[in-house]
Amino acid sequence: MSRDVQQHLLFECAWEVANKVGGIYTVIKTKVPVTVAEYGDRYCLLGPLSYKSAPMEVDAEEPTDPCLKEVLDLMRQAGLKALYGRWLVEGAPHVLLFDTSSMYSKLDEWKGDLWNLAGIPSPPHDHETNEAIVFGYIVAWFLGEYASRQLDKAIVAHFHEWQAGLAIPLCRKRHLDITTVFTTHATLLGRYLCAGSVDFYNNLQYFDVDHEAGKRGIYHRYCIERAATHCADVFTTVSHITAYESEHLLKRKPDGVVPNGLNVVKFQAMHEFQNLHAQSKAKINEFIRGHFYGHYDFDLENTLYMFTAGRYEYRNKGVDMFIESLARLNHRLQKAGSNLTVVAFIIMPATTHSYTVESLKGQAVTKQLRETVTEIQNRIGQRLFDHAARFHGDTKAIPAPEDLLSKEDEVLLKRRIFALKRNSLPPVVTHNVADDNGDPILNQIRRVKLFNNSHDRVKVIFHPDFLNASNPILGLDYEEFVRGCHLGVFPSYYEPWGYTPAECTVMGVPSVTTNLSGFGCFMQDLIERPQDEGCYIVDRRTASVEDSVNQLTDHMFTFCSKTRRQRINQRNRVERLSPLLDWKNLGIEYSKSRQLALRRAYPDAFYGPDGSGEEGDVEWDEGVERAILQSVPASPRLKGSATPGDLGTLTEEMQSLNTSDYRGYNWPGSNEEEEDGYPFPLV
Ligand code: UDP
Ligand code: G6P
Ligand code: GLC
Repeated sequence: MSRDVQQHLLFECAWEVANKVGGIYTVIKTKVPVTVAEYGDRYCLLGPLSYKSAPMEVDAEEPTDPCLKEVLDLMRQAGLKALYGRWLVEGAPHVLLFDTSSMYSKLDEWKGDLWNLAGIPSPPHDHETNEAIVFGYIVAWFLGEYASRQLDKAIVAHFHEWQAGLAIPLCRKRHLDITTVFTTHATLLGRYLCAGSVDFYNNLQYFDVDHEAGKRGIYHRYCIERAATHCADVFTTVSHITAYESEHLLKRKPDGVVPNGLNVVKFQAMHEFQNLHAQSKAKINEFIRGHFYGHYDFDLENTLYMFTAGRYEYRNKGVDMFIESLARLNHRLQKAGSNLTVVAFIIMPATTHSYTVESLKGQAVTKQLRETVTEIQNRIGQRLFDHAARFHGDTKAIPAPEDLLSKEDEVLLKRRIFALKRNSLPPVVTHNVADDNGDPILNQIRRVKLFNNSHDRVKVIFHPDFLNASNPILGLDYEEFVRGCHLGVFPSYYEPWGYTPAECTVMGVPSVTTNLSGFGCFMQDLIERPQDEGCYIVDRRTASVEDSVNQLTDHMFTFCSKTRRQRINQRNRVERLSPLLDWKNLGIEYSKSRQLALRRAYPDAFYGPDGSGEEGDVEWDEGVERAILQSVPASPRLKGSATPGDLGTLTEEMQSLNTSDYRGYNWPGSNEEEEDGYPFPLV
């Protein structure tokens, strides 16, 4: 009996389903609306059950699909704890979360099986790997039971990243009648090698992968990643740079690239997002007044907010380069006699022991000052009113200023002002960092001596935690914070995609990124002069470190010389690029990868048993509604007639079972003759 490929079912599996860690959560969450639009109830996400976040993320419900219900009952009887329901995000998709801890009794048995089946070893105390193994076995178990009951429809299972990928080799070994897609958002080895001091991009083809993985104690993880890569029917990555890396480190050339999108919300009028900037900036201003109490000697009307954010990866995320460039920017602004102030935020979670007393005190004393001023203001208002009402028509109707501020008020105000005195400089960090002495960010700030002195034009604030509106200091959501800033700076060395600058773009905030980040390359491919659109790209591929640092400093310095009007214009231009990053366009690449998986697994359903293509012929991207690019204005000059959809690399030619490669890709500035069309000049 053949399965219906057109009305196929989709399971999408990732460790970050309803479980926020980093950018993969953003991929899955923001992609939900377009996937639900395409699949409706035929879509279900699979993830790990975290009792901490699940109550906020998921609304539990009973499955209505009888096969799913039967399978869940059976698995629960065997001891598995699972939560089924709707994920509370836009699109409200079905979600099934598995509690790995409920199955740890099986860990040793499954580890043995993994060794016998695939020769993958697993050391005893690697918690992350243990989680990946238990999760992988549960998912493969679930898919096996489900596919043996649901026989009408084809099943596509899409997995993200190695932590969720172990089920792929298991499904293959067990010959499950499903088709699989594996998407990497980085490679394990790439991340580890770059974090060290390796000249990564010039040596990619020469690494002895097993040896390097072994040296870093991640051989077993690497085996899982590589098994998932090779056993999947279709293998994709999020950018060309990671495709290149995967080919050399995972030894499979991806079938295509699926660039990351965002769920773009368009405003009716341009000024709406500009207003949001002004509102959010006012909140950051409030925090700054508190943080710099006693040293608040600069003009907030002439202050720019720059920031970097992400998981704490000092070298990979380019924080080293950011701090060095800030020191140079400070020097240049001082030398130019500028009266502009730059406050640079670093938002990166580290292990901490709560907020510093100084940070909390700063917010407290300014809050008290504000409350006192408001009380006095009310009393002055009352006196003014009384006076005017009593003496109207009189020459004394306007009171003398000294009659308005009472002695008591003056004393109270003085007390609050004295409380603002401080002997120390405003701290460069908001929390007590557990490893204060060894922390690389703090150490570099110390090395370049950016200590928030009055004469420093660049001030630094390291906030070693993700932002949250309910935080007692800097109480803003990340999105609100980004909107209030002027420039995002992400000089990454290793960044398969990099959501942070992409998010800046759709919020109309200019950003700096590099040509080693997937996002940076993507924009460079699409737009003729990205820097004119507020998308600055530092060359970290061919330039020396010194030159890259200078380029970054130049970009920041040039940005500082812009007038308010120019900044407003630039925000407008950046925001108009949003359609390029909209899932309504980029989601098509995901649809194509699933189509390719179906074609590879069920060729007869597409081309007929003799391959003539007459039977059951299905369009390549049938059922996919492509959004028309909302008028990207003429100003951002797109390269050629490219739209993001056209940039996709999954092509119909690949339906042939013999082709597993994606189209060669010409990188900017690459020599056409270069092997495989890859761009990396071997310097
Ligand atoms: N982020 C966040 N809160 C913060 C800082 C960052 O939620 O305070 C999110 C940000 O919105 C982005 C993600 O963290 O979606 C980081 O993703 P990215 O792809 O830039 O890097 P990754 O951490 O995946 O390497
Ligand atoms: C937005 C607001 C303006 C405000 C400006 C400040 O555009 O609509 O009212 O003046 O932001 O811009 P700036 O770059 O100085 O923060
Ligand atoms: C990974 C990468 C990041 C990417 C994200 C989503 O965490 O480090 O660059 O944006 O996945 O694909």
